[in-house]
Amino acid sequence: MGSNPTFPTKASDHRKIAVTFQRGPLRGDVRVAGDKSISHRALMFAAAAGGTSTITQPNRGADVLATRDAIVALGAHVDDRGATIVVRGGALRSPATTIDARNSGTTTRLLLGLCAGRGIAATFDGDESLRRRPMERVARPLRAMGATVETSNGRLPVTVRGVTGPAGGTFELEVPSAQVKSAILLAHLDARGRVRVTGDAFSRDHTEIMLRRFGRAVRFDGRTIELEPGTLVAQDVRVPGDFSGAAFFLAAAAITPGSDLVLREVGVNVTRTGMLDALQAMGADLTVCDRGFLDGEPVADIAIRYRPLHAATLAGDLVVRAIDEVTILAAVAAHATGTTRIAGAAELRAKESDRLASMSQTLRACGVTVTEYADGLAVTGGGARVPDTTLQAHDDHRIAMAVATLAAAVGPHTIDDAGCIAVSFPDFVPLWEAAQATSR
Ligand code: S3P
Repeated sequence: MGSNPTFPTKASDHRKIAVTFQRGPLRGDVRVAGDKSISHRALMFAAAAGGTSTITQPNRGADVLATRDAIVALGAHVDDRGATIVVRGGALRSPATTIDARNSGTTTRLLLGLCAGRGIAATFDGDESLRRRPMERVARPLRAMGATVETSNGRLPVTVRGVTGPAGGTFELEVPSAQVKSAILLAHLDARGRVRVTGDAFSRDHTEIMLRRFGRAVRFDGRTIELEPGTLVAQDVRVPGDFSGAAFFLAAAAITPGSDLVLREVGVNVTRTGMLDALQAMGADLTVCDRGFLDGEPVADIAIRYRPLHAATLAGDLVVRAIDEVTILAAVAAHATGTTRIAGAAELRAKESDRLASMSQTLRACGVTVTEYADGLAVTGGGARVPDTTLQAHDDHRIAMAVATLAAAVGPHTIDDAGCIAVSFPDFVPLWEAAQATSR
């Protein structure tokens, strides 16, 4: 510790920078960054609603800042004060230039929806990783509601020419994706009739919760969503801690002897906490202490202590409810007795990297036995452990943070590009090092 160069905490500083994560337990209290998904939605809803909305404790990663800049390009007035962002929204317009969504799938897909239903013409582009990700899954339903959407062989750049006052109707999701579902809902904010989305499987429901908070009548049960016509009313939104950021701390504490950690005020929306169910199934020593609701979203303090774990099978809705945590669960599985099987996770191949491939490669480099399938992994715990390895981030913030978790149990490990962590969690490295220093 102490030998690492100064870590970039501003998204604009993203550069390739190697960081070495040390071995050792995590202890004490940690407050993680604000929830990324909720921050994106709060900014977009604030931009779409007439009036002024204040967002408190937003996530300040590069993805959310891409959304902030995009809503400015779309005509919202934004006063970014750091711990709060004040947005005056309502009258959106076609942007003068291409919107650069950088690394952010959520920015691209959700804003394509918003533009499609507001008569806006816009072109979206992004970085190399985002340019590899599928966009037809959003383009198809938006075309079905009347918008013109041109993709580049199914990928970015994408140009949308929106309609005004779409009719509404029923849309069947081709994948249980919160981004696709949210794009359809955002495209129908001004719909003349009810919009119904079917085929969900408990993907994150932050859009539905935020619709309600901004004054809309919406029903949802994890499978089907129904949104009635209406208008949005500006709201103040406080953002809970990001469960997906907490996940790396939870995983490290679960597999590193001597760990004893409390994560404070983390969002525990059930559509996000599949990892808690998985950890419990693996025998983790975990206590969730509910702290009520923050503007419609449940929050809790989560306490975790090291205890030996055993393998589990992770599949079905649980995988959707842990879609961004499956990779870190694979790292946990490497330290559990037996072989953990992860199935129904093909969607991981369409994330910031092909996460099934990048995590297999990372675990193998650490000496773990992994079998990769089209839709999952089998990870055998208790195999060989190779410390002091340099591992690749694969242009993927969650793979980079998973390396910190692996290093805590059997490190040190060096990540070749920790700069990408600023996509979701700019203060990750200092918080991580502080939690490890507490145990010295
Ligand atoms: C997100 C939805 C998920 C998730 C992503 C954020 C969101 O993607 O992986 O990190 O904020 O809606 P999919 O909807 O593609 O599963």
